[in-house]
Amino acid sequence: MAPKIIRTVAALRKEMAPWRAEGLTSAIVPTMGALHEGHLRLVREGFTKADRVVTTIFVNPKQFSATEDLGKYPRDEEADVAKLAAEGVNLVFAPDPGEIYPSGFVTAVHMEGPAKAGLEDKFRPHFFDGVATVVAKLFIAAGADYAMFGEKDYQQLQVVTRMARDLGLATEVIGIPTEREADGLAMSSRNRYLSKQERQQATAIHKSLTQAAAKIRAGGKPQSATRAAIRSLTTLGFKVDYVAARNAETLAVPKTAGEPLRLLAAAWLGTTRLIDNIAV
Ligand code: PAJ
Repeated sequence: MAPKIIRTVAALRKEMAPWRAEGLTSAIVPTMGALHEGHLRLVREGFTKADRVVTTIFVNPKQFSATEDLGKYPRDEEADVAKLAAEGVNLVFAPDPGEIYPSGFVTAVHMEGPAKAGLEDKFRPHFFDGVATVVAKLFIAAGADYAMFGEKDYQQLQVVTRMARDLGLATEVIGIPTEREADGLAMSSRNRYLSKQERQQATAIHKSLTQAAAKIRAGGKPQSATRAAIRSLTTLGFKVDYVAARNAETLAVPKTAGEPLRLLAAAWLGTTRLIDNIAV
């Protein structure tokens, strides 16, 4: 059955209130639409945690900078809703910008810590405050028990986890492993912009991260493993923003041997920026 499409916070609360009254749990899956298998995996995992799943589709203007084209972000609500219907999603929350940011809106969630790790934030300075602000608003609006986020955007996952904890929000953030193509490329709405040749080259990101992780596990220094990954990606034609080994939770530069580590990378192929990460 096609899920109801909800446009206002008031209507969302009205739809969700009876669930709680009946003792049913709920999970929210925040997205910007252009849904692929990665997003749908979050929905499926939502149903393993909760009785009801709400997917949000909102292209959040606050996380785009002036140079990133908000207008060009792919939008196809009809196709997205059809995919969500096939998964049995209960509600789709797809508000207009004015519903989330009413005229006169001046409040923001500003974050340090994982939001200032010198990774994505270094290249997209306004990004995480924009994400934290909209995700806080979505959590408050829905009051769901769980929220499903992909490890694909690993720094974002750590940022929203910290934000929900710091603000004492009732929603527990759950991280879900990255859904990949058969050749290892992490699924992303940006993969559609790759030329045929770039699409083949793109597999090198996951491969180089896998190799670097193996080196570190075998006792190699994180710094030399990440440097080798940067060298090999650069040789293959990437413009590398970063490949870094960080504390898996705080994303700080590791200080002690034996800390849980995450390897994170961002690199350009032509005009397309790709990100990926793996556990060590
Ligand atoms: P979006 O890029 O649409 O991603 C929505 C969710 O899907 C995020 O939690 C993201 O990590 C997850 N996701 C994307 N690709 C994935 C993959 N290959 N495997 C598993 N999960 C994947 O991230 C955002 O939107 C926005 O910043 C948002 C959180 C909605 C705030 O505006």
